[in-house]
Amino acid sequence: MGVVLEGGKIITAVDSYYSDIRIEDERIVSIGNDIKKSGDEVISVKGCYILPGGIDTHTHFDLESGSTVTADNFETGTKAALVGGTTTILDYATQNRGETLKEALRKQHKKSDGMCYCDYGFHMGITDWSDKTSCEMEDMVREGVTSFKLYMAYKKTLQVDDGVIFEVLKRSKELKSLITFHCENGDIIEALINEAKSKGNTSPYYHPLTRPALVEKEAIARLLNIAEIADSPVYIVHLSTREGLLSILDAKKRGIKVYAETCPQYLLLDDSCYGDKNSHNFEEAKYVMSPPLRKTYDNDALWKGISSREIMTIGTDHCSFNYKGQKEIGIDDFSKIPNGAPGVEHRIGLMYTYGVLKNRISMNEMVALTSTNAAKLFGLFPQKGTIAVGSDADIVVWDPAFSKAISVKNQMQNVDYTPYEGFEQKGRVLHAFLRGNKVISSGKFIEDKPLGKYLYRKTQPEDISYGKSF
Ligand code: URP
Ligand code: ZN
Ligand code: ZN
Repeated sequence: MGVVLEGGKIITAVDSYYSDIRIEDERIVSIGNDIKKSGDEVISVKGCYILPGGIDTHTHFDLESGSTVTADNFETGTKAALVGGTTTILDYATQNRGETLKEALRKQHKKSDGMCYCDYGFHMGITDWSDKTSCEMEDMVREGVTSFKLYMAYKKTLQVDDGVIFEVLKRSKELKSLITFHCENGDIIEALINEAKSKGNTSPYYHPLTRPALVEKEAIARLLNIAEIADSPVYIVHLSTREGLLSILDAKKRGIKVYAETCPQYLLLDDSCYGDKNSHNFEEAKYVMSPPLRKTYDNDALWKGISSREIMTIGTDHCSFNYKGQKEIGIDDFSKIPNGAPGVEHRIGLMYTYGVLKNRISMNEMVALTSTNAAKLFGLFPQKGTIAVGSDADIVVWDPAFSKAISVKNQMQNVDYTPYEGFEQKGRVLHAFLRGNKVISSGKFIEDKPLGKYLYRKTQPEDISYGKSF
């Protein structure tokens, strides 16, 4: 017995066309007319778009940060992902110093096994480099963890030096994995934070001032020089600045393989969220994330980077902490505020409303940015990231007629605020299927079992294209 979606408009990264689509078991089995078989359930999706399920390249669920742990765990986070049209998340596991990669992976599985409502995979953060870690990278690849992360910031906890970046990139080239990078100069940030605090400047207003745009630009430029020497591709997470983007464009001209991700917050929010010199309101802690929110000219530059297809993916960096009791940890010291903000639920709605409907991107580009490019870069294509016969039936039926105001009052995310409070969202997920299982029906979350599967991802093919578009 199958399911036929009838009368919708299928959107992939490259095509838009009207056709019916038939799902059986976990896969898309046919696309065309007259494909119904006896016993099939037929769902009319006239007036709706049929999109491949979204892939969020960047989440942190159940993440310990200092004295606290994120408000969303793998259960609440993956439910919120589905409500927003994301059927796969790639979350960050992280090696603590003194720990092996295997231990870090085992812990991440323990947190997520049997908890996930959407499919999921892991990137692995490397913080403690040695010959053993180098060997273990191969074990990770065998376990389906084909991408890693290095932090150029968070001195004393996560930050690695240039020598490690070089060694990891060379190792990654052998393994055909992909290294993702948090690009901010952690040494300079630490000096700026100490300077601010020594002057008694402790409110969240100082968070962006101690992480200026140039610390991102400097780290990106340095990374891209190291990547050129190592002759290995790199993926830059949560790009936030025009200056950083310019460094990326310059490196691309030099033939360096560099892929960039940005997030809705760096497109739609700006540093006015931190108030002004005189306000010093602790509510601004809701926007304490790293990198911080930037200027409106950075928003504009990133939108241009997206529409010119220089930026490949939209992740969220979903890392939620409640304002009450968690963000408040830093009430007397902005550098102690847990860093991060929620977003997994609103990614596609925001890209549709402020990207497609504002004529900044096409529907096809939205699909490429929120699903297809991620599948290709992170070893999931064509199982995920497209609507094609044989692909997993991860399908989002998007109703463009719907409209709402985003609010903490109507969100699924398990956190006491959203940075997009009051933002208008046009369109919503009417129905969603995860490997053929209907998980959202008429806008309601209906799945009571955590059906999400761990994804063993492939390595990078030799001939992966890295230009303007896939
Ligand atoms: O503030 C953020 N982004 N927290 C999550 C960790 C990271 O740097 O991605
Ligand atoms: Zn980061
Ligand atoms: Zn992150």
